[in-house]
Amino acid sequence: MSPNETKSVTIENLEAAFAGESMANRKYLYFARRCRALGHDDVAKVFEATAEQETAHAFGHLELLYPSKDLSVERMLELAVEGETYEYTEMYPKFRHLAQQEGHDAAVKEMDEQIEESREHAEMFQAVLEKAAKRFDALSRVEERHAGHYQDALDKVRAKSNAAE
Ligand SMILES: [Fe+2]
Ligand SMILES: [Fe+2]
Repeated sequence: MSPNETKSVTIENLEAAFAGESMANRKYLYFARRCRALGHDDVAKVFEATAEQETAHAFGHLELLYPSKDLSVERMLELAVEGETYEYTEMYPKFRHLAQQEGHDAAVKEMDEQIEESREHAEMFQAVLEKAAKRFDALSRVEERHAGHYQDALDKVRAKSNAAE
C-alpha cells in the first residue's frame, strides 16, 4: 500500500505492531551484542532467544498485512521499489531537512547516507524486477511457440483424417 492511501484503523494498528515487533527484534540483538561485550553471555542468550520470538510475532502481522497468497515475485519486487523510493524521495529528505534545522550534523550525515543507500536499493530491486519481467516474457513466448507447434501438429492430423474420409 502506498503511504498516502487511506487505511483502516486495524491495518494501521497492524503496521504499528509490525514496526514494534521488528524494532524489538533488532533492539534485543543489539542488546545481546552489548551483553556479550560486557561478559554476560547468559543474558545475551535470553535476548537472542526473545529476539527470535519477536521475529515470529512480526511475521504473523505481515501475513495479515501482505497475505502470502497475494505475493508474486513481481509484486514483492514492486513493493520493495515502492518502499525504498518513498524512503529516498520523501522520508529521508524530510528528516534531513529537520535535522539540519536543529543543527544535528551527525543526523544530517546519517540521513544523507540513508538517502544514497535507499536509492541504491530501489535501483537494485528495479533492475531485478525488469530482469524477472523479461524472463516471464521469454517464458510466455516459449509457451506461445509450443502452443503453435501443437496447433500445427493438430492441423496436420486433422488434414490427414479429412483426406482419408
Ligand atoms: Fe512480541
Ligand atoms: Fe533499504
